[in-house]
Amino acid sequence: MCGLLLAVGAAAAERVGQVAAHPPGAAVASGHALATDAGLEILGKGGNAFDAAVATSAALSVVEPISSGLGGGGFFLLHDAKTGRDVFIDARETAPAAATPQAYLDSKGELDRDRAENGPWSAGIPGLPAALVHIAEKYGKLPLRTSLAPAIRLARDGFPIYARLERGYGSRREVMERYPGTRAVFLADGTPPKTGEILKQPDLAHTLELLAAKGSDGFYRGDLAKKLVAGVEAEGGHWTAEELAGYRVREREPLKLHYHDWNITTAPPPSSGGIALAEILQVVSGWNLHELDQAHRTHLVVEAMRRAFRDRTIYLGDPDFVKVPVQRLMSRDYAAGLRASIHPDKATPSELFSGQPAPLEDDETTHFAIIDRDGNRASVTQTVNLLYGSGLVVPGTGFLLNNEMDDFALKPGTPNAFGVMGFEANAPKPGKRMLSSMTPTFMESDDKVIALGAPGGSRIITEVLLGILAYDDGLDPQQVAALPRYHHQWMPDVISAEPGALAPETVKALQAMGHTVNAGEGTWGNLQTVMWNRRDNTLSGGTDPRNPVGKAAVQAAP
Ligand code: DON
Repeated sequence: MCGLLLAVGAAAAERVGQVAAHPPGAAVASGHALATDAGLEILGKGGNAFDAAVATSAALSVVEPISSGLGGGGFFLLHDAKTGRDVFIDARETAPAAATPQAYLDSKGELDRDRAENGPWSAGIPGLPAALVHIAEKYGKLPLRTSLAPAIRLARDGFPIYARLERGYGSRREVMERYPGTRAVFLADGTPPKTGEILKQPDLAHTLELLAAKGSDGFYRGDLAKKLVAGVEAEGGHWTAEELAGYRVREREPLKLHYHDWNITTAPPPSSGGIALAEILQVVSGWNLHELDQAHRTHLVVEAMRRAFRDRTIYLGDPDFVKVPVQRLMSRDYAAGLRASIHPDKATPSELFSGQPAPLEDDETTHFAIIDRDGNRASVTQTVNLLYGSGLVVPGTGFLLNNEMDDFALKPGTPNAFGVMGFEANAPKPGKRMLSSMTPTFMESDDKVIALGAPGGSRIITEVLLGILAYDDGLDPQQVAALPRYHHQWMPDVISAEPGALAPETVKALQAMGHTVNAGEGTWGNLQTVMWNRRDNTLSGGTDPRNPVGKAAVQAAP
């Protein structure tokens, strides 16, 4: 179901000054209707937004194995209405000790793309299961077993395969069919997944049961952990039992910034998203974007994007391993300096880039957003990285391992699958988290409270940025999710644009300023967002119409 926009109003809401004290119900938006329904089910059982986040996250892991799962990781941005505290749960994968940069070079010293993207070497130690347990124990009201029940049911009883799963399988088939464990899940009936067929995942149901019964130990120690270590070894990779047992989520302070009337709360390192958003928004806040024609507005936003992505390349990495100059990159003075370097109507050429452009695939990774009736919020982006992650399911576990190692700068200055590169700050080290673009975000003004985010690799940052600018323009959640997108990431030095994003005369004007514009790439992204308008006390959601199986829904308070 797509394009759903609902609102419930409360006639006699308790008010604090001009605005309502509580939402009139709850709202959930996610990339799959069954995962949205899992969140609503748990809210209906008395769970809060954090229990619902566990339920939706686990359900997405079952119904979108192409995008995220127990073998991957994610970032959970949470707002606790009672304490007013925002916290960022970092469940990013970590590098196994064996994954040295040399392990990814071929005999000619070039980056071995197959190792970086496929099979055991491409996988980091998973973080998502630890996040589910941590959030249920520390922030939830319901037992983990209750919040995992919808996902267990979906894994055991199955769900209908949809076109994106079938298409994605087609494009990853050769890799997926290398591994007996993957064949057992996706070729159980002897043929590849087909739209309309039911996909049952009994081993995944069992793994989720173990997590429900034993918490972290059910995944990171004992039989399942032994299977993972042996399964990775059997395919020629190397993980240790200690690396699994030692995995921990990190609680981090989210980044806070202001843009016009908005307080924005967003992802800190090891995400690059929050810093990039801060740089771009602070640079463009020097102009009145509302007054500019489309060509000049796009030019200035693109120039800010270009500069933020350059800094991403050089400075950003896991803050537990490298000193990230957060204060400097987020400072107003720094933004003023960047702004001064932008010509009002001339492109600044990025240095010529000798790598390959990012291949555009279906966007994977997934985002969901939840607000509950107490005003608690969750904005969550989770991933196994590329389509179906590494393609490797260790026999008997039921889930795909991620291929997140490709998000490290495995070879300095060599672009990854998204065409972004890095240097020492993002070099792999044992236990280090790879730099991410995932940018789960909250926006708050005097009357509106919003959660938003998106998949899309490096394009996540610009999707969220354009979402913020669109909310600032006064668009509603469904319009924000549908809005045509453009993107620039410094290297390659090109503006990518979806059909309809830039008028033909804007493209001409940008070209005249010296920009290269590629407006023929098709579409990307899958933005999910919910909004509580505290002034009229309504809730609404927006789900990306590019993804026909997503759903935004509002549940009235009982
Ligand atoms: O963390 C990151 O930035 C990437 N692993 C996200 C991957 C992604 O969004 C895939 N979608 N196209």
